[in-house]
Amino acid sequence: MGTARYIWIDDSLRPSTEGVVPFLSAGVQYGFSVFEGIRCYATDKGPAVFRLDEHVQRLLDSAHIVGFRELPVGAEQITTAIHQTIAANEFSACYIRPMIFLDDALTMTVEAGKARFMVAVWEWKSFLGAEAKERGIRANIASFTRLHPNIMMTKAKVSGNYVSSILAKTESQRAGFDEAIMLGPDGYVAECTGENLFVARNKVIYTTPRAGILEGITRDSLVTLARDLGYSVVEEPISRDQLYIADEVFVCGTAAEVIGLREIDFRTIGDGKAGPVTRALQHEFDKLVAGRHARSEKWLAPVPAMNTAAVR
Ligand SMILES: Cc1ncc(COP(=O)(O)O)c(C=O)c1O
Repeated sequence: MGTARYIWIDDSLRPSTEGVVPFLSAGVQYGFSVFEGIRCYATDKGPAVFRLDEHVQRLLDSAHIVGFRELPVGAEQITTAIHQTIAANEFSACYIRPMIFLDDALTMTVEAGKARFMVAVWEWKSFLGAEAKERGIRANIASFTRLHPNIMMTKAKVSGNYVSSILAKTESQRAGFDEAIMLGPDGYVAECTGENLFVARNKVIYTTPRAGILEGITRDSLVTLARDLGYSVVEEPISRDQLYIADEVFVCGTAAEVIGLREIDFRTIGDGKAGPVTRALQHEFDKLVAGRHARSEKWLAPVPAMNTAAVR
């Protein structure tokens, strides 16, 4: 993992060593912050960010959902900050982490604190590794239930939500699996700890309804790519046993990209390796993020050159 020299704080680039947050902030004390996970890919035209507008909008939506009324930044400033942070660090491919957090709140209300904004980037090529992509990974059904929207809203990427993800993923890894599948409060499949889930059966692709999940931008991209390939994609509740008898199960997210599940709860899924639908979508997605797909033009935007005036 390559470390960055610069980080964006509030309205300017600073040396990364200054990237600290106050101990007494609600962001740290209560997990009251919203964030995004975005990827910048190396392409023939230089570094390019995947679906940046949609990620920026989701960050603003998250802030709106948790009740921030006044933000120090809008879509344009967030976009500029992201571009400048990538350019300043001279990464050709990296992971991007913008965050809006509640500062100096010693009382528990959004009204009491002020929202602050930061962007960090780091060089990071593969989340689960090349072998995971080829072979698929092993998952279990978590003993923890995915959040009910009246407890913690799943449409917002709130830092505190990830305590639940970390509980499930730690349990899964300690039991010898790679990833956890979380069922929603209704008992049907919701999503993984940081990925959305798809099932392929008899040449139809299924994915879970949107209400109880984070609406992944990779998920949305795969639905389009699958339909481009001629598959019908159906959004409907998926039960645990439907996973066991699927031809293929695959998961997707910004970090994981597209990964097949070869085993769930000690049951082999399909042929026990990434199947043809998974591989076809991995292939399309790889072309897309390399800038070599018909949809790359719309979804992959080159990073503009550095504005040196932004560095303090
Ligand atoms: C809980 C959860 N579900 C799904 C996803 C996938 O979303 P995306 O494809 O936008 O990265 C993520 C990752 O951000 C996540 O944290």
